[in-house]
Amino acid sequence: MRKVFLVFAGLLLVAVIAQFYLATFGAFERPLPEPGTGAIVPHAMNGTTVIPILSLLTTIIAAVARAGRRLIVLSAVPLVVVIGQLFVIFPLVELTGSTMERTNTGGHIVFGFHAILGVLMLGAVVTLFQEARALARAGTVAPVAEPHTGV
Ligand code: HEM
Repeated sequence: MRKVFLVFAGLLLVAVIAQFYLATFGAFERPLPEPGTGAIVPHAMNGTTVIPILSLLTTIIAAVARAGRRLIVLSAVPLVVVIGQLFVIFPLVELTGSTMERTNTGGHIVFGFHAILGVLMLGAVVTLFQEARALARAGTVAPVAEPHTGV
């Protein structure tokens, strides 16, 4: 089960790195596409479907594998970040009076945290992967040989 956990931690890491790649894959498109269309769509899809689903599955697998509270929490961080993006950051931007057609300084200040939350998520999944790998190795290490007594 610890190996399955490691595989999912790895998939989650790849999905989060892909999220950064897909941000700039889409952000430079010109002419500017209509809102909700164009090259930024893969970023939106990966962020709102692939990452939360993988995070939820990894969290469940961490619990089943008895990986410990710390790794369970780290597995859930991407899901929490996605919820934060969709239900805190975007609504806060709207509250500043920014719209799809015209943004303002308040909206820009809040939108900056879209990337900061992403950095937190990246830090969490890098740590998660490293610790999941250590856990998988700990489960497969051969028992240390008894010291030779010379008898
Ligand atoms: C789980 C984390 C994230 C989620 C759920 C998410 C979600 C989204 C969504 C739904 C959009 C709107 C797409 C559209 O216009 O149709 C978007 C746009 C964007 N995101 Fe993210 N995102 C995440 C992380 C990041 C990170 C880490 C970065 C930067 C490194 C980033 C940079 C951008 C950029 C540059 C845009 C395009 C803004 C525009 O041109 O209108 N996102 N994101």
